[in-house]
Amino acid sequence: MKITVFGSGYVGLVTGACLAEVGNQVLCMDVDQHKIDQLKQGIIPIFEPGLDEMVKDNVAAGRLSFTTDVKEAVDFGLFQFIAVGTPPDEDGSADLKYVLAVAKSIAEHMSDYKIVVDKSTVPVGTADKVKQAIKDVLAERSQELEFDVVSNPEFLKEGSALDDFMKPDRIIIGTDNPRTAELLKALYGPFNRSRERVITMDIRSAELTKYAANAMLATKISFMNELANLAERLGADIENVRHGIGSDSRIGYSFIYPGCGYGGSCFPKDVKALERTARDYGYQAELLSAVENVNDRQKHRLFEKISTHFPDGVKGKVFALWGLAFKPNTDDMREAPSRVLLEALIDAGATVRAYDPEAMEEAHRIYGDKAGLVYCTKQADTLNDVDALIIVTEWKQFRSPDFDDLSRLLKDKVIFDGRNMYEPRLVKQFGLQYYAIGR
Ligand code: UDX
Repeated sequence: MKITVFGSGYVGLVTGACLAEVGNQVLCMDVDQHKIDQLKQGIIPIFEPGLDEMVKDNVAAGRLSFTTDVKEAVDFGLFQFIAVGTPPDEDGSADLKYVLAVAKSIAEHMSDYKIVVDKSTVPVGTADKVKQAIKDVLAERSQELEFDVVSNPEFLKEGSALDDFMKPDRIIIGTDNPRTAELLKALYGPFNRSRERVITMDIRSAELTKYAANAMLATKISFMNELANLAERLGADIENVRHGIGSDSRIGYSFIYPGCGYGGSCFPKDVKALERTARDYGYQAELLSAVENVNDRQKHRLFEKISTHFPDGVKGKVFALWGLAFKPNTDDMREAPSRVLLEALIDAGATVRAYDPEAMEEAHRIYGDKAGLVYCTKQADTLNDVDALIIVTEWKQFRSPDFDDLSRLLKDKVIFDGRNMYEPRLVKQFGLQYYAIGR
């Protein structure tokens, strides 16, 4: 089948590459000439395990190509995927300008039936707006062409996006046209072989499903963070509690890890946007506000612990900081807890010696030559002449440090761990003080 994907960012590239991988012809379009030039040379602008290779293989096989030419893009595919960004505007609602601009471009250039597929995370009601935008332009062109708009949200996790696309838990297809549902089902056939994963529904429910999934996961995390803070006061260990409740199959073990807060491009943005949508429809979503507030507060927990440990303040102290990305296996620092922490430390007069296996370049891009921030190219370099160690991202390589070395190198012999990486008793055996979350 022939597919056009508008937006060669994270979602667009993964979607395009995976659809090409199973034999489709895919054309990815982006307005960013530099990005498209790079992609044509096989340079992938984002870090996602396996994506580089998949893009190169499919380009070489002639199934995947790139363009900045809108007309060429619209002419190409029966399926026109919209995978452009929906950044939050000042009030937290998703900004639809890029989505609607693509809808208009499709309408300006289309000359036969098209299936327009919303892949971007968009507020409930966006498909109607996309439909209207296309209708308006077609009316201006005095064209009576048929088209359908489908909501087909993505559920990709950074770091395992290819797997999530190739082996999805579910494929949500929101449409009011049964014939279009069948075509989409056929398109997703290769990813739907071992069991039925396609769930078809009306468009608005599909749009809401995406937000509901992310808001539910964010709620689980904030709930655990709330309980972790309580456990600290009660003298309980949240890790025992996590095991205790996770074993209940109605609750489950996933997404109940307490920590220094959730970050990334989805949870913070989507919880805010859903809350905003609720307000627009005259409903006060109390739980969503609480989820967000608990998370904002949680991002300050490590700094609070550090401040309590150093009652005379952190001015002049030097900290090793392990982890900058909002989670492992990505270089993404959007809304990362590390940012709140390192900014607070530096504002308070401390020096931060930071290391992340993937996000150093991104940190440079964000902070440049920020005074008080030292970029370390090796994990070991962070430990030169430091008072304490802080861990913010649970990268695998941080799992088994040499505690003897740490005990020798950390002048204050103290670790602040925002991800509960270690067994407290073990760390203490090395003469180290250990602060974790909720234990
Ligand atoms: C998320 C959704 O999982 C994905 O389905 C959606 O399409 C996009 O948003 P992503 O943002 O890539 O994906 O990251 P995810 O792995 O879900 O983690 C989000 C954040 O929650 C991270 O900061 C992570 O550290 C935190 N987290 C996760 C916890 O603090 N505790 C947990 O138990 C799980």
